[in-house]
Amino acid sequence: MDWHARFSQQAGWTRSLRDYIFDAIDLRRAGRILEVGCGTGALLAELPSQAAVHGLDLEPARLTEARLHAPRALLTNGDASCLPFPAQTFDITFCHFLLLWVKYPPDVLCEMRRVTRPGGFVLALAEPDYSRRVDKPKAFAPLGRWQSESLWRQGADPTVGGRLAGLFAEAGITLLETGSLRGVGTHPLTPEERELEWVVLEADLAGFVTARKLQRIKKLDEEAWRRGERVLHVPTYYAWGRV
Ligand SMILES: C[S@@+](CC[C@H](N)C(=O)[O-])C[C@H]1O[C@@H](n2cnc3c(N)ncnc32)[C@H](O)[C@@H]1O
Repeated sequence: MDWHARFSQQAGWTRSLRDYIFDAIDLRRAGRILEVGCGTGALLAELPSQAAVHGLDLEPARLTEARLHAPRALLTNGDASCLPFPAQTFDITFCHFLLLWVKYPPDVLCEMRRVTRPGGFVLALAEPDYSRRVDKPKAFAPLGRWQSESLWRQGADPTVGGRLAGLFAEAGITLLETGSLRGVGTHPLTPEERELEWVVLEADLAGFVTARKLQRIKKLDEEAWRRGERVLHVPTYYAWGRV
C-alpha cells in the first residue's frame, strides 16, 4: 500500500475546505503551526513557508516518509494524547483523518487545546462517519458494513465524524463552525481513484471477506461505475474553534 498516495488523495478531498478555513484564520500570518498525526506529510508540504511547521506522528515509518515529502517541517515522534510540547506553543493546531484512529478523542482534543495559545485555533479537518456510508445500488451495501466492522476491529472508531461538535465542547474549545465536506466520493470517481479505493478496501477486508468474493464484487462495482449507476458517499465532517 502506497500510504502517501492514499493520504495525498484524501488531502485532495479537503483542499477547498482548507483554503477556506486557512483564509478565515489568517494562517499565512501564523508563526507556529502543528499537525497532529501528520502521516507522510501530505498536508505539511503545502503549508506556507514563513511559519515554523511542526508535525507529530506515532509511527516512525510515517515520519521517515514525511521527511522526504515535507523536508522543511520539524518532525516529532510522539502520541497525540500526550503531546510533548509546552502549553500555548502554537498559533494553530490541526488534525486530518486522525481522531478515528485514537483511543480517546477528547484527550487528544484537550491536548491540542493545551498546546495552542489563547486566541489561537484548533481544527479537525476531516473525520468520517462510516455508519452513514451510502452505497448504491443496494447490492453494494455490504461493502460499507464490512469496512466499518474491519475499522472497529483495527481499533478505529469509524463513527467519530458525526460527534465532532460535541467532542470540541467536551475539550473546552469554543466551536466556531462545523459541517460536512462536499464532494467526498459524491462525484464520479476516476478509474485511478476507484483503484485506490479498492486497494484500501482489499487491505481492510483481508482475512475477513474471501479474496474471491471481493474480486466478484469489484468486477460488478467497476461495471456499475462504467454504466453511471454507482453512488458511493462516506459522510466526512470538520470542526474548528478558538482557544
Ligand atoms: C489516516 S493517517 C492521516 C495522516 C495525515 N494526517 C494525512 O491526512 O495525510 C492517520 C495518522 O495518524 C497517526 N496516528 C494514529 N494514532 C496516533 C496517535 N495516538 N498519536 C499520533 N499519531 C497517531 C497514524 O500513524 C497515521 O499516520
